[in-house]
Amino acid sequence: MKVLFVGEIVAEPGRKIVKNILPEIVKENKVDLVIANVENLSGGKGITRENIEEMKIAGIDYFTGGDHVFWYKDTEEFIDSIPLVRPANYPEGVMGKGYEIIDTGKNGKILVINLLGRTFSSDAKAYVDDPFRTADKILEETRSQKPEVIIVDFHAEASSEKYSLAHYLDGRVNCFVGTHTHVPTADNMLLPKGTLYVTDVGMCGAIDSSLGVKVEITIRMFLTGINQKFDWENAGRKAFRSVLFDTEAKSIVRIDKVV
Ligand SMILES: [Fe+2]
Ligand SMILES: [Fe+2]
Repeated sequence: MKVLFVGEIVAEPGRKIVKNILPEIVKENKVDLVIANVENLSGGKGITRENIEEMKIAGIDYFTGGDHVFWYKDTEEFIDSIPLVRPANYPEGVMGKGYEIIDTGKNGKILVINLLGRTFSSDAKAYVDDPFRTADKILEETRSQKPEVIIVDFHAEASSEKYSLAHYLDGRVNCFVGTHTHVPTADNMLLPKGTLYVTDVGMCGAIDSSLGVKVEITIRMFLTGINQKFDWENAGRKAFRSVLFDTEAKSIVRIDKVV
């Protein structure tokens, strides 16, 4: 099965480049399923119903989230009606679901899991459960349903935490993709026990920016030490970042375009 995982789609520039580039990539590579991280989809943080619809029309089949996915107040009203998983290690009772088994028809059942890292994030450390043991629990709970393919989006800051969880799950999940830093890494590889891995897929959006945010703002933040209101860059070059998993060929290749 060929699964294209698209990196965090950041605000309007991200949505634009996805709409322009995705259909061609899907066709060229005979992609079976497209998954995208959308925690920054709408206005740079969070998701709206309209933008999720827009991305479905652009060709994305399934969505994953992260620490910013709950940004809009009305998210609770529609999160259960869209094909999306948010980090599974949030406390019990939080809106949405952390994993889901999707029936893809000819390619069988695929389990998508979203988890949040805790290292270098004091918020996550304080609120969310251990992603390692949460992953164990989910794999145990879904074992009887025998999903053909298992994909993990680990939304985390520290590459060490990503490598550690990936090796902890090596051979137990087919595909493991890191998100959250917005910076693509070149370490896509097959791990020793058979899991396809990349530390971070990167983001779709304005690259003449600081992770999507206007650089004047982040420079001011670092020069003064004072928190700034973020504004998202629209000008300059745009990047499309993704990885293509082929679970039969056991390959993971980066597909990146800058326009
Ligand atoms: Fe993000
Ligand atoms: Fe994030």
